[in-house]
Amino acid sequence: MAYEAPVARPVNPRFSSGPCAKIPGFSLDMLADAPLGRSHRAAVGKAKLKEAIETTREILGVPADYRIGIVPASDTGAVEMALWSLLGARPVTMCAWESFGSGWVTDVVKQLKIDADVKKAEYGDIVDFTDVDFNTDVVFTWNGTTSGVRVANGNDIPAERQGLTICDATSAAFAMDLPWDKLDVVTFSWQKVLGGEGGHGVLILSPRAVERLETYTPKWPMPKIFRMTKGGKLIDGIFVGETINTPSMLCVEDYLVALKWAKTIGGLKGLIGRAEANAQVVWDFVAAKPWIENLANNPANASTTSVCLKFNDARIKDGAAFAKAVAKRLEKEGVALDVGAYRDAPAGLRIWCGSTVEKADLEALMPWIEYAFEAEIAAQA
Ligand SMILES: Cc1ncc(COP(=O)(O)O)c(C=O)c1O
Repeated sequence: MAYEAPVARPVNPRFSSGPCAKIPGFSLDMLADAPLGRSHRAAVGKAKLKEAIETTREILGVPADYRIGIVPASDTGAVEMALWSLLGARPVTMCAWESFGSGWVTDVVKQLKIDADVKKAEYGDIVDFTDVDFNTDVVFTWNGTTSGVRVANGNDIPAERQGLTICDATSAAFAMDLPWDKLDVVTFSWQKVLGGEGGHGVLILSPRAVERLETYTPKWPMPKIFRMTKGGKLIDGIFVGETINTPSMLCVEDYLVALKWAKTIGGLKGLIGRAEANAQVVWDFVAAKPWIENLANNPANASTTSVCLKFNDARIKDGAAFAKAVAKRLEKEGVALDVGAYRDAPAGLRIWCGSTVEKADLEALMPWIEYAFEAEIAAQA
């Protein structure tokens, strides 16, 4: 007998891993206070940018002596600014366990031509930090968005280290605890856990990272949008809202709205709790079904935001085509948008469980995954 389509549907079928679902109840009317058509350097614009920085610090618990800047080109811009500005002063270790981390390896090895120690893990696994020399500069991604594998905690990063830790935390920030004393550079984009917009990156620097910027000049040319120092001194303005170039004040307003929502649900603790409860819905479902499993091999490293799943049923003939067909069916039914695995990742599904997603929507989605799976098994036959 054919498996019946479930009755209940997610109210919001947006489970994309970026841009991610907007905050619950979002409407464009919420952005009415954006100072549009004004200079971002007018008092009102500067005040909005400063508020964004200060509220980011408050919610994430960023130490007072760390700098926070809003920079161009989304998370990629923030990461590349850091790589180009900081690396080259001492040996470098690049850690990668999925597509974006691998992209940073390419940047450093092929573009900056640094002879880095490259440590890679296959999709589903993670690099063992006890094998990493933290007296080198270490670049890594906290949460691998395309593999659903994350750093469990900062325990294996020594507090006393000579190198800098440069961490792409774009799909972790606001949903996972980040140990600030273990991190010298943290980057993220608004488009992930807070459901904001792409285009702007956030770059957070420890005092040691600032010291590096002020004492070391890379041998390669530095475009204006990467430059954080002038005459050997940090350009302080960047870290109080005087952005390098023009930001979108609409996106800034949208970020402020999301930050305010975050405060209403208990700040960081509330945000983390929502992501964890969301991921648990998917984990429980997967644990009960023999034909699907988490791509993360070790539950300690399983992501609570970008939950990646693979099918493992012997009846599946072509794994990639099957997974694509399931994702397409879910989309066609209007119950889950954009849940196919990332193009470079193993075939499967990727379901965003970040803090803006409602648990009830994930609960409603799970039976649909079973329905789509059974329908595609039948379609194969
Ligand atoms: C881990 C990671 N790094 C970098 C990026 C690129 O982010 P952006 O497009 O905001 O620059 C992404 C986007 O999904 C990501 O998941």
